[in-house]
Amino acid sequence: MAVESIMTTYNRLSVAFERGEGSWLYDTDGNKYLDALSGIAVCGLGHSHPAVTHAICEQAGKVLHTSNLYTIPNQQQLAERLTQISGMENVFFGNSGAEANEAAIKLARRYGHTVRNIDNPAIIVMEDSFHGRTMATLSATGNRSAQAGFEPLVSGFVRAPYDDIDAIKKIAENNPNIVAILVEPIQGESGIQIPADDYLNQIRAICDNNDWLMMLDEVQSGNGRSGKYFAYQHNDILPDVVTTAKGLGNGVPIGACLAKGVAATILTAGTHGSTYGGNPLSCAAALAVVNTIMDENLCERAEILGNRIANGFREQLGQAGYVNEVRNKGMLIAIELSEAGSELAVLAKVKGILLNVTGGGKVVRMLPPLTMTDSEAELLVNTLSQIIRVYAADERSSEAKEDGPEGERRA
Ligand SMILES: Cc1ncc(COP(=O)(O)O)c(C=O)c1O
Repeated sequence: MAVESIMTTYNRLSVAFERGEGSWLYDTDGNKYLDALSGIAVCGLGHSHPAVTHAICEQAGKVLHTSNLYTIPNQQQLAERLTQISGMENVFFGNSGAEANEAAIKLARRYGHTVRNIDNPAIIVMEDSFHGRTMATLSATGNRSAQAGFEPLVSGFVRAPYDDIDAIKKIAENNPNIVAILVEPIQGESGIQIPADDYLNQIRAICDNNDWLMMLDEVQSGNGRSGKYFAYQHNDILPDVVTTAKGLGNGVPIGACLAKGVAATILTAGTHGSTYGGNPLSCAAALAVVNTIMDENLCERAEILGNRIANGFREQLGQAGYVNEVRNKGMLIAIELSEAGSELAVLAKVKGILLNVTGGGKVVRMLPPLTMTDSEAELLVNTLSQIIRVYAADERSSEAKEDGPEGERRA
């Protein structure tokens, strides 16, 4: 049997892109696609953004990498910019979301040992969460099918249902080993799940009462996508630790774990590291990204345009029985279907729209570039609504046929 030269870890659609510009990707046959996924929340500034391209090219002509054995001036600049925006005090840089979360998990454990005097520190994590694919972040992730086959998992995680404050309070009463909570302000991979407005405020209060670190995974929700630079900024609170990646580099791999207060004192020299983490190339790109998001008010733009797109879908699909709910926080947008509809990603691609279907195949997820224009947004809403209406009608008529004469009568 022939063995593929790339491990078959991904189910890929049969299309390859050779260039991108703004919200558009062009395949090797010259077809164009409206990118409503941004490489899964990565290319928040769209493709080939001039500020990012310029920063990368300029840095490549100077020096790509030196290592963290030496001072990296633009890493310092990026850390200052991010701490100023976030209200955090310092930053550890890695290369991905998983690596940023690994840093947070290690920070919490070390906080348990050194500050709380706990030998077996444990972290509360949520059901249906996603924190990455490394062994610790996979163990923190609340998705059994992603974990299956990789046991033994890393211990030290206690799970609570998402958006359930009472469950967290119960754990607080019964488990003296808890040192931190790790939670997504909006769950991305499980289908843009948006908790109660005061969920993060309540978690903040519980963490304060118990000397736990409040750690937020903003790998997907950060960098302007939710309508604020970080999603917790909707709640007027500060976490102790926040992680981000994806949109920070607009396609150049970079992840960051930011901390404040006692959490900012835990990872000292020699306790953690990453060869590439925060190298001159990735920091040049990320600085251009962060400055563009702030200078061009893209957080506000994400809020306004995200609401407009979601309202457009509500108007066009409100009566479609096939759609349970349209929800969004800024440019994290979901159309929840009443039944699984994974084929919609393929059907949309055929019509020139890129998106993905997550949440057990029932949630059409869109994470468009924050720079998407009004007319592109309108095109997205009109085209996708039409695709979903036709799909729902086809599904219903084939269901009726499968049901036989009785079903046909019902239909
Ligand atoms: C909330 C969240 N955390 C962590 C990750 C893992 O990031 P990465 O794939 O860059 O390791 C993801 C990726 O989808 C994510 O959405």
